[in-house]
Amino acid sequence: MDGELVDWDDARIHILSHTLHYGSGVFEGIRAYATDAGPAVFRLTDHIRRLFNSAKIFMIDVPFTPEEIVEATKTTVRVNGLAECYIRPIVYLGYGEMGLNPLPCPVNVSIAVWPWGSYLGDEGVANGVTMKISSWRRHDPNAIPPAAKGTGMYINSSMAKVEALKAGYDEAILLSPQGYVSECTGENLFVVKGDRIITPPISAGALEGITQDSVLTIARDLGFDVEFGNILRSDLYTAEEAFLTGTAAEVVPIRSVDDRSLGDGRPGPITRRLQEIYHAAVRGQVDKYKDWVEHVG
Ligand SMILES: Cc1ncc(COP(=O)(O)O)c(C=O)c1O
Repeated sequence: MDGELVDWDDARIHILSHTLHYGSGVFEGIRAYATDAGPAVFRLTDHIRRLFNSAKIFMIDVPFTPEEIVEATKTTVRVNGLAECYIRPIVYLGYGEMGLNPLPCPVNVSIAVWPWGSYLGDEGVANGVTMKISSWRRHDPNAIPPAAKGTGMYINSSMAKVEALKAGYDEAILLSPQGYVSECTGENLFVVKGDRIITPPISAGALEGITQDSVLTIARDLGFDVEFGNILRSDLYTAEEAFLTGTAAEVVPIRSVDDRSLGDGRPGPITRRLQEIYHAAVRGQVDKYKDWVEHVG
């Protein structure tokens, strides 16, 4: 926390922290994986670059350099002695002045790590998840920019998640204000149609996902025709395969959308192949993608 190593139980902040009231923080979700050379953080530098871009969008001056945050992340993973873990850096506005003007508030930075298994469950990774198109829309880019990972923005995802779970589905898909498929509550989405693999662009309200980029690269390297393109909800219903990607969830097959089974209702061969290569790449087992793996030392 702010440059100090703090025990889990002592990691406390003031109740009047600005971010708690107004959602004025930015954060990242990162994973470290076990490799032959010890724990390594997957695409750490890219995640920290996105953290600083999120801060820039909200005009938050981070009181550390990106290099310092990269090093602090590695140190936090190392001292916790975890072979694999989830990593949550957060830049938040602390206890200063209440009120909507964030500028007088101190900017605090914390990095927390903990062991975290499959975000959507091992069953979902193996057999696919059921999805529901949410009645909630992704926010308009001119209301809240989806390119930033801002803490307060996630109330939109949480509402969609609760709606899907209460209706008996595993996860939600949000449409953009224009009605195109945007993304899931914390994951990007891909569909497979013939030999084309399509994922919605940022202009449809999707976050520029780092897993999305990794999977795009892997798919292109395998020779697939991969493109950013607008997808309608009917495209989802008729897709041969679909899957979602995210740091927490990793690569997860979609079994059905709004009760329509995709393909034969089992994870398709392209999804499986991309899932397998991604799982090997994050552990430093694919030479071509070794640069993505940043060892903690
Ligand atoms: C809304 C949203 N979309 C997509 C993603 C996937 O991004 P990444 O692959 O960088 O984790 C995330 C997770 O950070 C997210 O919160």
